[in-house]
Amino acid sequence: MNAKVGNLIYKGKAKDVYETDNSEIVIVKFRDDITAGDGAKKENLNKKGFYNSIISAKFFEILEEAGVKTQYIDLLKPGYMLSKKLKMIPIEVITRNIAAGSLLRNFPFKEKQEFEPPIIQMDYKSDEYHDPTLNDDIAVALGLVTIEELNTIREITLKINTVLKDFLKSRGLLFPDFKIEFGHDNQGNVVLGDEISPDSCRFWDIETCDNLDKDLFRKGESGVMDAYIKVASIVLDEKDKKKWNLDI
Ligand SMILES: Nc1ncnc2c1ncn2[C@@H]1O[C@H](COP(=O)(O)OP(=O)(O)OP(=O)(O)O)[C@@H](O)[C@H]1O
Ligand SMILES: [Mg+2]
Repeated sequence: MNAKVGNLIYKGKAKDVYETDNSEIVIVKFRDDITAGDGAKKENLNKKGFYNSIISAKFFEILEEAGVKTQYIDLLKPGYMLSKKLKMIPIEVITRNIAAGSLLRNFPFKEKQEFEPPIIQMDYKSDEYHDPTLNDDIAVALGLVTIEELNTIREITLKINTVLKDFLKSRGLLFPDFKIEFGHDNQGNVVLGDEISPDSCRFWDIETCDNLDKDLFRKGESGVMDAYIKVASIVLDEKDKKKWNLDI
């Protein structure tokens, strides 16, 4: 599919959103910038945007096939995702299958404790307020969502978790947790937007529990890009690799 890159609508910490000649469609450009700790730690990783866009596109395709509505229309070329323009809901929806990260800092869970059913945590997406954790009443009182929409978001999120966790397990990866964002399309449907990539998820090797995600950057370890490329090589099929000319 073809589309003309128009004006920049939004520049985030790791992606840009551009208008197109169609008012209902945007181009989400995945940049190489990587940040952690509320933007305190910043770097540029060669080809991160390239790989994150391909990985996200793959997950969106898998989810669409499973009946989940996503923003995804097409990957124009690596880095540039043609997407439905959404009115984003400022909530970070975090699903946790295994205890890690901030959950361990904030609550007395045991490291690697498994959650069945998974924990769904919702944080208010706000740089100004540093993404505090919401509850249903606060989310509704802030006018972010209705209680019905919260239930819809939970239902879709649990489905996304099941589909991706099973897929990743079949490829030898654990899926401890991930963060997603939803928005409304022009008909008012709640649709999955943004990205699903090693920037927004934890992926662990099923045998060694090695991190293959942004945790390596948070911890200042080496091999961050190697880990992202490994995730791409694991989740992509041969036909995807051929399409993007990837020797991975
Ligand atoms: N389909 C879409 N339509 C419109 N806006 C979108 C869509 N998908 C994602 N967005 C928004 O585009 C922006 C992407 O930017 P990015 O993720 O780089 O920065 P950020 O979310 O501001 O910062 P961070 O993710 O680092 O906290 C986000 O604000 C996201 O909510
Ligand atoms: Mg973001």
